Amino acid sequence: MNIYKEISNLIISKLQENKEIKDFITPQILKNLAIEVPKLREFGDFSTNIAMLLSKSMGKSPREIATLIKPTLEGIPNLDTISIAGPGFINLKLKDGYIKEISLSNNFAPDTKTTEKIDLDYGGYNVGKALHIGHLRTTVVGDTFNRIAKFLGYKTKAYNHMGDWGRPMGLIIAWVLENGMPQNVDDVNRMYPASSTRAKEDPAWLEKAQKITVELQNGNEEYKKIYDTFMPMSLGQVSKLLTRLNILPFDENKGERLIAEYVPEVQEILDAKGIIEHSDGAEIISVKQDTDTEPMPPVMWRSSAGAQTYAAADLTAIYYREKTDNPNTIIYFTDNRQTLHFKQIFRAARIAGFATDIELQHIGFGTITGTDGKPFKTRDGNVPSLDEMINIVADSVRARVKESGKQLSDETIEMIALAALKFNDLMHDVKSDYIFDVDAVTSFEGRTGPYILYTAVRLNSILKKVGNISASANCELLPEERDLLMFLLDFNRIIETAFEKRAPYILANYAYDLCKMINTFYHTCPIMRDDIPEDIKTQRLAIVNQSLHVLSKSIELMGLKIPEEM
Ligand code: ARG
Repeated sequence: MNIYKEISNLIISKLQENKEIKDFITPQILKNLAIEVPKLREFGDFSTNIAMLLSKSMGKSPREIATLIKPTLEGIPNLDTISIAGPGFINLKLKDGYIKEISLSNNFAPDTKTTEKIDLDYGGYNVGKALHIGHLRTTVVGDTFNRIAKFLGYKTKAYNHMGDWGRPMGLIIAWVLENGMPQNVDDVNRMYPASSTRAKEDPAWLEKAQKITVELQNGNEEYKKIYDTFMPMSLGQVSKLLTRLNILPFDENKGERLIAEYVPEVQEILDAKGIIEHSDGAEIISVKQDTDTEPMPPVMWRSSAGAQTYAAADLTAIYYREKTDNPNTIIYFTDNRQTLHFKQIFRAARIAGFATDIELQHIGFGTITGTDGKPFKTRDGNVPSLDEMINIVADSVRARVKESGKQLSDETIEMIALAALKFNDLMHDVKSDYIFDVDAVTSFEGRTGPYILYTAVRLNSILKKVGNISASANCELLPEERDLLMFLLDFNRIIETAFEKRAPYILANYAYDLCKMINTFYHTCPIMRDDIPEDIKTQRLAIVNQSLHVLSKSIELMGLKIPEEM
């Protein structure tokens, strides 16, 4: 249940019962009606701008309107107080008993399930290349967004648009032709970097790889066979790491190669519409508009060597997804160096008449930097693989645990390490860069993954000690209890906002604030102490139970796991 929506509906229905005001409640007002948390909690639980909105059409000052409609709003059930603040905000406070009732009986499921479909494009790894730090954000944020969307009822399809049909594959095939297929898993991730390094020093090698790429795309059987053997090995490597990271499996992994089948179809459409231009042997699509104030280069549809391009794969993918999934929205999560690329592709899609009813959205990420402000590197100056990243974090967690004299299993250390790494990634606004500091992210205090898990483990252990939770008794609420219950009630609005804004960091920071409130509650409201009367104990245990419910759900949506002990 989204209590904010509930309150908003109650305000509207009350005002509509009032004959003098009814006609002023226009669709515009409904759209702009805001229910927020008042600047100071003691002002109430909710603050609304309704008087400001009505002021213009009713020809009175917001304060006058507020005074006028206050008696009507007093009819809202379960209201404790209603007051006017500042220029005309109306603050509402609900009765403690009601807050307790709805928060403790809430299952926090979404109010309405949508039927919309969303295609998500994240990951986008490359064949023959180990996942590295540059893949962390697209993977973690994409996965959490997918979980949030599924929770709200969206039908999602997660595409790992693998870079498996362009020059990297050509470079791998060139290498395989000379050195044979990989003998072990390490070989799989070694061949592409080796071949790519050689191409930088040896133009003939590069040319050979380019030629192979074009021939592969044109159906060369021998090369296709190498692809068919190599690709599953490479994907096996990817999926092993994604399992380690607790990322939901992708629904589609075939990437550029899958799309290649549809390129001729799209080529025909583009040709028929006369959209393709020829330029120095390449085929391009011009996407510039008169109003552009920034450079807007054309889309490279086919390279002068005759190869299918990165852009062609993305443009064709839009065509393919419309044809097969016909989603309401396609969202891409990549780093922000691809912002121009997606702008071009979206324009090209519109020019070609594709996806006219589909919203196309690119969410671009900032960079992960070291404490020196430069892109994060390991001590030996290399770009770390994601496996190495997890190991670095796990080592730090292990050292901390040892220092504190605790003994935790390797499995638990791994869960904490993943929480440290992933939560730190999730809590930052995707658009901005962030500093990765291994000591900071593994701390058990402050805005960190371990702190979140620790709070959940603690709640779990309280509940384990008492066994069954009985229905809550009817005792008064202390302010810390009331604040916590109000915050639990905010869960659904948070999830909806995180979804609408494409901003999982809203969820991550909610989880942190929730933990802080839980810990404040725990310190001020003792539960298991002998002098605590039975009915108060029962009520507090019910609060613990609901807190754990909401916290666990938040943790699950972030793709983290709660250990048995910490
Ligand atoms: N494979 C690409 C790269 O490593 C990223 C793919 C992003 N997704 C996409 N649909 N273009 O740069």
